[in-house]
Amino acid sequence: MIKTLDITKGETEGLYKFLTAAVAPRPIAFVSTVDKNGNKNLSPFSFFNVFSVNPPILVFSPVRRMRNNTSKHTLDNIHQVKECVISLVSEEIAQQVSLASCDFDAEVNEFEKAGFTEVKSDLVIPSRIKESPINFECKVNEIITLGEQGGAGSLVLCEVLKMHINENVLDENNDIDPFKLNIVSRLGANWYGKTTKESLYEIAKPISRMGMGIDNLPENIRNSNILTGNELAILASAENIPSKNEFTVREEKNTEEKHILAKELLSQGKSEEAWQILI
Ligand SMILES: Cc1cc2nc3c(=O)[nH]c(=O)nc-3n(C[C@H](O)[C@H](O)[C@H](O)COP(=O)(O)O)c2cc1C
Repeated sequence: MIKTLDITKGETEGLYKFLTAAVAPRPIAFVSTVDKNGNKNLSPFSFFNVFSVNPPILVFSPVRRMRNNTSKHTLDNIHQVKECVISLVSEEIAQQVSLASCDFDAEVNEFEKAGFTEVKSDLVIPSRIKESPINFECKVNEIITLGEQGGAGSLVLCEVLKMHINENVLDENNDIDPFKLNIVSRLGANWYGKTTKESLYEIAKPISRMGMGIDNLPENIRNSNILTGNELAILASAENIPSKNEFTVREEKNTEEKHILAKELLSQGKSEEAWQILI
């Protein structure tokens, strides 16, 4: 059975809950802004991502409050001062970030409320956050209003002017190490995700190689009852069906046994060996 919500027929009950639980995990922008009087604001937004590299554009979306259709202070501030600092949220500061999301009055400085240290930005008025591993100083190029009702978002298009990376999250090649960065993500309800060794894995897909595709796999492999779509995709990421390697020891096996062995090899990351069993 499939549950459907037909928005065109007004079936929107629980929509917020379903959208935020379904489109997950999401990265979190911790956004520092100021109003025209210099009042500071700090708030998290998980309707957030990177959308362009040249120019470097980050977009986040403050949503009009459902209960009273008011706008978030962050958005009000950005209409007044078209700059912000977007900081990323590591596990070490996630509870403080959650605290900063309380509906404090506009004059309340969430740096103080949530215990963050301000660092003066180089190019924009809003401050950076010392405790965050990565800070982006941004100018706001455009605000796209998506509606007037409670729940309506406004896309804030931010152009990155300067990126600050704490060297503690870099590896020996000066690349960002996901485990050192220890970023958290937002899912539905009260759920957050961590970036642990157990939760991350790699999918090798060299850009230089064109996979043959599942449609080009031999029929008996493509229609296997044992190999899953994921496993077929690993095999089909090879450019061609490999030729038999004379040195591979092959015992007499029926198709089912071959597929079971290939499945085992694929689970160990041995795709070439799996192919040799299958051909
Ligand atoms: C992790 C997290 C992610 C959030 N993401 C959003 C979001 O994408 N959009 C939004 O409008 N509110 C989001 N919120 C709620 C806002 O942070 C909250 O409404 C905050 O009070 C807004 O502050 P402001 O009025 O000072 O701008 C999120 C809260 C948390 C804790």
